[in-house]
Amino acid sequence: MLLHFHHLTKRYGDNTVIDDITATLDFPHVLALLGPSGGGKSTLLRLVGGLESPERGSLTVDHEPVPTSDKSLRTYRSNIGTVFQSWNLFPHLDALANIMLPLTAVHGLAPDQARARAEELLERLHLNGHGQKRPAELSGGQRQRVAIARAVAIRPKLLLFDEPTSALDPEMTAEVLEVIADLKSEGRTFILVTHAMNFARTVADQVAFLANGQILEQAPAKEFFSAPTTETAQRFLAKVLKY
Ligand SMILES: Nc1ncnc2c1ncn2[C@@H]1O[C@H](COP(=O)(O)OP(=O)(O)O)[C@@H](O)[C@H]1O
Ligand SMILES: [Mg+2]
Repeated sequence: MLLHFHHLTKRYGDNTVIDDITATLDFPHVLALLGPSGGGKSTLLRLVGGLESPERGSLTVDHEPVPTSDKSLRTYRSNIGTVFQSWNLFPHLDALANIMLPLTAVHGLAPDQARARAEELLERLHLNGHGQKRPAELSGGQRQRVAIARAVAIRPKLLLFDEPTSALDPEMTAEVLEVIADLKSEGRTFILVTHAMNFARTVADQVAFLANGQILEQAPAKEFFSAPTTETAQRFLAKVLKY
């Protein structure tokens, strides 16, 4: 996948969160977006997903410009799967209905087709027997796997994960990371923001390091973790890998 940013700029009031980024990110399947808190990772992910629009500049995903008009944005977004830290599944719908809803409401599948696809995914994500449970009846790890199933169900060209495990305890984190690793084995393409550094090192093809709204470096994951070139990245890694 090829991402190209051209003078990409995003501000919130006086706060320049994405600061005039011009860069090309080229990765076979998995990009890890790493960096200090507040550095702009979530915002960049939202720009790529068409959930925010830049103040200035532009971006393309596989040579296709991320649109700016509302109507084209809706179409664009419908081909991208997103999973956030605590994805709000619809609380009144059970797991199966949560997965089916975008398929019937946005992608025009018949209920039977949507159900078949949702059931297949529940099984693949080790959620057999949980389809009839509402989010409140599921563990945090199960809820995130339902959210992943929902994101994958639409057969997106790109998946975006923003700290999908940061609200989970270690055991549930492992369940969810396993599922994400499986997605890589299936050949899916995704961008992952995570604090799970060991996971990022093993799953990512490429790393982009973002701090203060700028991409300070990018490198193949192995290279980035063994020999970060900027002092900011060196300090960041020393700190997060210490404990
Ligand atoms: N919706 C928003 N409104 C105002 N400020 C925001 C908003 N989203 C993010 N910010 C600010 O933008 C900066 C970068 O945030 P974010 O992209 O969430 O960074 P990260 O994900 O790397 O922690 C932070 O200073 C944050 O407070
Ligand atoms: Mg964030």
